[in-house]
Amino acid sequence: MNLKQLLSGILTPSECGELKNSFDVVGSVAQLEIPESLEPKEKMIANKILETFKNIKTVVKKVDKTEGEFRVRPVKILAGIPSTETVQRENGLNLKLDLNKVFYTPRLSNERLRILKQIKKGDFVADLFCGVGPYAILIAKFSKSRKVFANDLNPDAYNYLIENVKKNKALKIECFNKDAKDFHKLKADKVIMNIPKFSENFLSVAFDNCRKGGLVYYYCFAKEDELKDRVAEIKKAGHCRILKKTKCGDIGPGTFRWCIDFKIT
Ligand SMILES: C[S@@+](CC[C@H](N)C(=O)[O-])C[C@H]1O[C@@H](n2cnc3c(N)ncnc32)[C@H](O)[C@@H]1O
Repeated sequence: MNLKQLLSGILTPSECGELKNSFDVVGSVAQLEIPESLEPKEKMIANKILETFKNIKTVVKKVDKTEGEFRVRPVKILAGIPSTETVQRENGLNLKLDLNKVFYTPRLSNERLRILKQIKKGDFVADLFCGVGPYAILIAKFSKSRKVFANDLNPDAYNYLIENVKKNKALKIECFNKDAKDFHKLKADKVIMNIPKFSENFLSVAFDNCRKGGLVYYYCFAKEDELKDRVAEIKKAGHCRILKKTKCGDIGPGTFRWCIDFKIT
């Protein structure tokens, strides 16, 4: 059942038309996007979701765009248990996080598996913007990598990372709470650069820390016709060969999150 069908009893057809058809679920928290016109009915909508889906314990609404250096998208509780901390089950991992303190999106779970598949035996992987660890822990646990570095500047993300590493028994990981710009000459085989909003500012970090012949997974935001500019920026920053461009979902009308895989040459 989609959201519009579910709410057809309490909303008019035109009100239903203003809602998105689906919502994100993170752990036991349902995240809605409520247009201003439906705010008077938001609690009613939230309670309907709560009573329909037994796995949902809290319903929140996204109140702002993803913001700031730590890329947190603030939410407001509408119904249920008054907490934004939850445990998300993703790709066989349990990831504890607080939606109001850290970045997390379930929409990258397949992309994380794509990267996992590319990790070779003996690889040293550096995830320099790791959040609560969905890439780094996955790779440490399910690949034959030799060593994984997981780093995030947000102290809350770092604390959840430490907890998640322990909980998921991802023993190969070393965790850091630093500015990615403070890493130098790691000579990693694979470098994950998931900071799409500010990707350009950190291009030199990727070139500095990936070994010659190693691969960089470089995330950025761009419209279809802007992608060539992102590629040009990469080529300008250092010697490399572009291997692949993967669309990893949209972030607004006509704008997408991309991963550009490139090899240091
Ligand atoms: C888009 S999120 C990606 C998080 C994670 N990779 C994921 O998929 O859930 C970007 C992360 O970079 C972190 N960050 C921002 N600036 C940073 C910096 N200068 N050095 C290290 N981490 C930083 C933020 O706190 C945030 O957790």
